[in-house]
Amino acid sequence: MRPLSRCLTVLPAALILCAVRPLSAQRPAAEPKIDSLLARMTLEEKLGQLNQVSVDGQPNAEQLDLARKGLVGSFLNLAGADATHAAQHVAVTESRLHIPLILGLDVIHGYRTIFPIPLGEAASWDPEAVEAAAHVAAKEAAAAGVHWTFAPMVDIARDPRWGRIAEGSGEDPYLGSALAAARVRGFQGKDLRAPDAVLATVKHFAAYGGAEGGRDYNTVDLSERTLREAYLPPYHAAIDAGAGSVMTSFNEIGGIPSTASPWLMTTLLRREWGFKGFVVSDWTAVAELLNHGVAGSRADAGKLALEAGVDMDMVSRIYVSDLPALVRAGRIPVAVVNEAVRRVLRAKAALGLFDDPDHGATPERERAALLAPEHRQLARRVAEESIVLLKNEGQVLPLATRVKTLAVIGPLADDKVSALGSWPGRGDPQDALTPLAGIKQRAGSVSVVYAKGCGITDTSTAGFADAVAAAKQADVAVLVLGEAGDMSGEAASRAELDLPGVQERLLEAVQATGTPVVLVVNSGRPLTIAWAAEHVPAIVESWFLGVETGPALAAVLFGDVSPSGKLPVTFPRAVGQIPLYYNHKNTGRPTGPDKYSSKYIDLPVTPLFPFGHGLSYTTFSYSDLRLAPRITPTGTLRVSVAVTNTGSREAAEVVQLYVHDEVASVTRPVRALAGFRRVSLKPGEARTVEFSLTAKELGLYNQDMKFVVEPGKFRVFVGGSSVGGLEGEFEVAPVR
Ligand code: NOJ
Repeated sequence: MRPLSRCLTVLPAALILCAVRPLSAQRPAAEPKIDSLLARMTLEEKLGQLNQVSVDGQPNAEQLDLARKGLVGSFLNLAGADATHAAQHVAVTESRLHIPLILGLDVIHGYRTIFPIPLGEAASWDPEAVEAAAHVAAKEAAAAGVHWTFAPMVDIARDPRWGRIAEGSGEDPYLGSALAAARVRGFQGKDLRAPDAVLATVKHFAAYGGAEGGRDYNTVDLSERTLREAYLPPYHAAIDAGAGSVMTSFNEIGGIPSTASPWLMTTLLRREWGFKGFVVSDWTAVAELLNHGVAGSRADAGKLALEAGVDMDMVSRIYVSDLPALVRAGRIPVAVVNEAVRRVLRAKAALGLFDDPDHGATPERERAALLAPEHRQLARRVAEESIVLLKNEGQVLPLATRVKTLAVIGPLADDKVSALGSWPGRGDPQDALTPLAGIKQRAGSVSVVYAKGCGITDTSTAGFADAVAAAKQADVAVLVLGEAGDMSGEAASRAELDLPGVQERLLEAVQATGTPVVLVVNSGRPLTIAWAAEHVPAIVESWFLGVETGPALAAVLFGDVSPSGKLPVTFPRAVGQIPLYYNHKNTGRPTGPDKYSSKYIDLPVTPLFPFGHGLSYTTFSYSDLRLAPRITPTGTLRVSVAVTNTGSREAAEVVQLYVHDEVASVTRPVRALAGFRRVSLKPGEARTVEFSLTAKELGLYNQDMKFVVEPGKFRVFVGGSSVGGLEGEFEVAPVR
C-alpha cells in the first residue's frame, strides 16, 4: 500500500466550481425583480410557487383557479402552443403578481420525432449525435410551449431486471457522464431564453438504479464509495454542464429517503458540487415519506423535504396545503421558503418567462417544428448508430445479393407502437416505420414474405406453421423478437429476462428449417438469449429505435451502413448472474480453476456479450500503442494508438481506452473506461487516435473519502470492447 501522505489531493469541489454556470450568474439582472416579488408575496403565494400540479390535457377549472390565486408555480403534462398559452395567460394576467408558470413535461427521447430509447442512443457512444437528438427534442417541445423537460435520466443501472434501465445510458459512469453532459447541452443550448431551449432536469437523484433485486422503487443500500465512484459521476457531469434542475429519486439510500436527505440535496449537491438551480421532488415523493416511515404526517413530510433542499413539490400538494401553518408556527424558518422560491423564480427568469411567458412558442412554430424532415433524418442517423451487431457467424449479414426471398417473421416485425419504445412522449405510432415497412421499402427486387408467428406474450403456437412455411420459401429469415415497448421503463421490472411468451420456441422452429436466421432483438434492456447466441448465426440488438426504426434497420441488414453500436451494458447469460458488470473488483479469490475461487458451479462468470462489444461488417486492427512511461500526479498522460480498417467496407469503430490501478490503498475495478472515440474509416485507412488521462480518470476516493491520485503502476487497455485489447503500462511518480 502506498503512504497516503505522499498522495496528491485533488479538490473536486474546486474543480467543479469553475465549470458550473449558475442560473443566478446567467441573469443577475433578475435579482432585483425577484427581491421585489418576494417582498410582496404572501406566504401562500410563496408556497404556491413551490407547488407543481399535473394536468390531464387541459387544466380543469380548479387548476386554473389555483393559477389565478397564485397557488401553483408549475403545471406538468401540459403541451401544445395553444393550450400552454391559454394556461399561461391566466397566470400572467389574472393572478395578483402576474408570475408566469413553468411548464414541465417528460421529453425523454424526443417530443414528436421519437429517437431511440436512451439506452439505445447510448449504444452509439456518440455524444455529438446524442446532443443533436436532445436539441431536436428541445426545439419541438419548446415550440409546443414546454419550458422544462424531466430529462436526462442518468441513473447508472447494473441490474437489467430494473425496467428503467431503458431510460438511462447503461452501467458505466464514464460513458454515462459523457452522455449526461451531451443531453444537457442539447436540451438547454447556450441560452435558455432561446426559443429552441428547454430547462433540463438531471434525475433521479440519487442512485435510483441501485434498487435491490432490480424491483422498481425498491430500497437502495450502497457504500459511499460505490455511490461516489459508480453512481454519482453522471449527475455531477450533468450539473457541470449547467443542468438547471434536479429531480429527487423515489428510493432511500441506507435508511434515508432521497427526498428527505439533506446530505444529498444540500451538502453534496449544493455545497460540494456548487449546484445553483432548483430541486423538484419526483411524483408524490414528498407524500411517500409517510410510506417510507420517516414522517408521521403530511406536514412532517413536507418539512423534511423542504428543509432537506427540495424546492418544488411534484403533485403531493403538501407544501401549499400543509406548510403555511408550520411556517406561521415558527417550525420552518421563512428564510428556507424564501430561498426555495428564489431558486424557482430564477429558473423562470433564466428562461425569459417574465418577458415572454410563451417562450417563443406559437402554433405556427409548432407546426413547422414537429417531425420536420431534418429531424427525421437525424433520428435515422442516430438509430443506425444505435444498432449493435452481437454475432455474425458465416457472414450472414449483410444480406447477400443472392438473397432473392426474405422472410420477415415475429410479433415485433410490424408493431408501430413498440417501435417508439417506452415513454415516447407526444410521439404518434402512426409516424413510425416498422422493421417490415423499412425492409419492404429497401428490398427492391428481393421479395419479402411476412408472418407474425405469435404475439409478444402469447402462449399460442397457432401462428408457427405460417412462420415456418415463410422461412422455408426464403433464402434468409429475419426474426424480429423481444419485448413490447412498454415492458421496460417505469414500473416495468422483470424477474425473467428471456424472450417473452413462446417467442424462443418460434425461433427454434424457424431455426430448424435450415434457412439461415437473423435474430433482431427489440428490448429496453439486455435479454438472456443464451440459446440464440449458441444456435442462431446472426444477432442484432436494435433496442427501440423510434420513428425511423425500419429504415435504419434495413440500412444495416442490407449493408448500406455497417453497424457501429457498442453495448453500453453487459448482457448476462442468466438472471442468476445479475448484477454483472465489467468494472467489477478482482476479489481476494479471482475466478480461476481452483474450486475455492469466486465463481458459480453451474455457469461461467463471464457475460454472454460484454460491455463495449459490437461487431462490424469490416475488421479493424489496433497497433502502435504509445504512452509515456511515467507522469506526475498532476500530469497529463497522452496515449495514442493506430486503428486501421483492414476490411473492405467503410465503417465506424468506437475505440475504447480502459485503465487499471494495479496497487492502491483501496480496491480498484479490474478495468474502468477512461476514454473513447468514434472514428470512421475507409477500407485500408489508418488513423492515430489520441487520449489524455488526468487526475479525473486516474484518481480514487481513499480511505478518508478524499479524491486523490496515488503513485504507482497503472495498466491501460485499448481496443474495440471491454475484453482484450492492446496493453501498456505507466507509472504515476511519487511526489517528492
Ligand atoms: C415519475 C417518474 O419517476 C419521473 O421520472 C417523471 O419525470 C415523473 N413521474 C413525472 O412524470
